[in-house]
Amino acid sequence: MLVHTRVDTILLLASSLAALVTAITVPTTAPSTASTIDSSLVAVSLEFFAFPGYTNLVSTGTCLANLQNLRGAPVAIRIGGTTQDRATYDPTLATPVSFTVASPTDAPTSLTFGPSFFTLAASNLDGNVTVGLNRQLNNQANTLSAAVQAKESIPQLYAIELGNEPDLYASTSPISADAASEASWFKAIAPSVGNIFQAAVYISWRTAPTIPLLGTSISNVRTVSEHSYPQSACNGATTNLQTLMSHSGIVSYTKGFAADAASAHAAGVRYFLGETNSATCGGGGISPTFGAALWIVDYVLQGALNSVERLYFHQGTIGDCQYCWWGQFTTGAPFYGAYFVNEFLGTDGAKIEMLDNGTGAVASYVLFNSAGTPVRLLVYNSNYFDGTGTRSSTSVSFTGGGIPASGTATALRLTGPNATSRVDEGGVVTIGGDLTFDGDCNAVGTQTRENVVVTGSTLTVTVQASEALIVYL
Ligand SMILES: *[C@@H]1O[C@H](CO)[C@@H](O)[C@H](O)[C@H]1NC(C)=O
Ligand SMILES: *[C@@H]1O[C@H](CO)[C@@H](O)[C@H](O)[C@H]1NC(C)=O
Ligand SMILES: *[C@@H]1O[C@H](CO)[C@@H](O)[C@H](O)[C@H]1NC(C)=O
Repeated sequence: MLVHTRVDTILLLASSLAALVTAITVPTTAPSTASTIDSSLVAVSLEFFAFPGYTNLVSTGTCLANLQNLRGAPVAIRIGGTTQDRATYDPTLATPVSFTVASPTDAPTSLTFGPSFFTLAASNLDGNVTVGLNRQLNNQANTLSAAVQAKESIPQLYAIELGNEPDLYASTSPISADAASEASWFKAIAPSVGNIFQAAVYISWRTAPTIPLLGTSISNVRTVSEHSYPQSACNGATTNLQTLMSHSGIVSYTKGFAADAASAHAAGVRYFLGETNSATCGGGGISPTFGAALWIVDYVLQGALNSVERLYFHQGTIGDCQYCWWGQFTTGAPFYGAYFVNEFLGTDGAKIEMLDNGTGAVASYVLFNSAGTPVRLLVYNSNYFDGTGTRSSTSVSFTGGGIPASGTATALRLTGPNATSRVDEGGVVTIGGDLTFDGDCNAVGTQTRENVVVTGSTLTVTVQASEALIVYL
């Protein structure tokens, strides 16, 4: 059972800590440095071969609707990944996909897909749809016919990728000198589908150097995509949850995207993390945890601060995917992080600013509406609590924008037993004390806001190690 700090305790803490804790000043209006928030900042990527399977899961529709309702805008979806480069279009295929695997949790090494792949996308997805097609097999005529069919079938088609992570193509691949290859493919296919390409799609290369190399074919590009996994469990590499969820670690990691975003924006195209999640190659045990949920909250906000317009969180093979938000055994802990950050961003979130200096363990953010008025604060205490020893807590005080001289504000807490807790192993992660999600992603229980006392024009909240809190101004 979770013990929430009671209001009278907060009062005592507030008075005893007032001398120790310097209040953070919240701007009264959005400064010019505040970052803009896309209506689908939290987006979803579905592995190509698994996409039809995802449409058969009740939880896909429910989870996406939950996220959509919080933002008042549909979730943008990218369909792609490793298997887009193993897929061949068959215009006569009656089913969306066709492949054979030894075990139901294997990804196919080769597959075909038919026209109903695209009609399934048109009828099941509400948000902008990005479709990843094959370049690695170097069958441009086949990819062209698939692109034409996608364009005809999906009214909400937003972008088309040609190739996934071409930086990892074997040196024997027909596709080398990637920017030149991309440019020639864009020029060949754009006349049939329009200037809607998602360029780069790199995982190990930065995207900024590619933009000048695309030459005039940049006019065929709508978006630039970079793939991002802060940790890897590939080839026996070890993962570390404390490092993943560290606020200062997330700040320094996401800074790397600012230059790539700036180069895309200077070229007049949008910049996305077109595929992202916590750890590659099976997630290394850290991906399904409550700590990974907290990572999502901070990573999404730091992404926005570094001009990443959308982060497409990848959902892989159904039933064999540690970082997946749903479709594994139940709705996983990471989904709670996605839900919580969308609750913070809300339907009115327009701009965001960080209020801490990025070097400590505790993050503070302020969200502004389109009028530039501060509407919510978020505090993330990234101090690591793995269940051993005593759980520490930190008090953070705010003054300034939107905070009255006295009275009460309300707050919503995202918490769990400890950072390593997994919902699929019985760990109970909650939002607002009692809100959880069942295996079909239906909300269960009631979300309750806590009261936060404002005294002496100062609002003080207490957040435990490995916990996050939204304050409503
Ligand atoms: C989807 O993309 C179109 C452009 O094709 C854009 O006008 C629209 O606003 C987008 N929708 C969302 C929800 O982002
Ligand atoms: C950043 O903030 C932390 C925590 O509030 C503080 O301890 C540290 O001195 C600050 N560092 C700088 C460079 O201002
Ligand atoms: C962390 O929480 C889980 C419940 O989610 C529990 O099973 C585990 O024992 C806890 N870890 C420690 C070290 O207490």
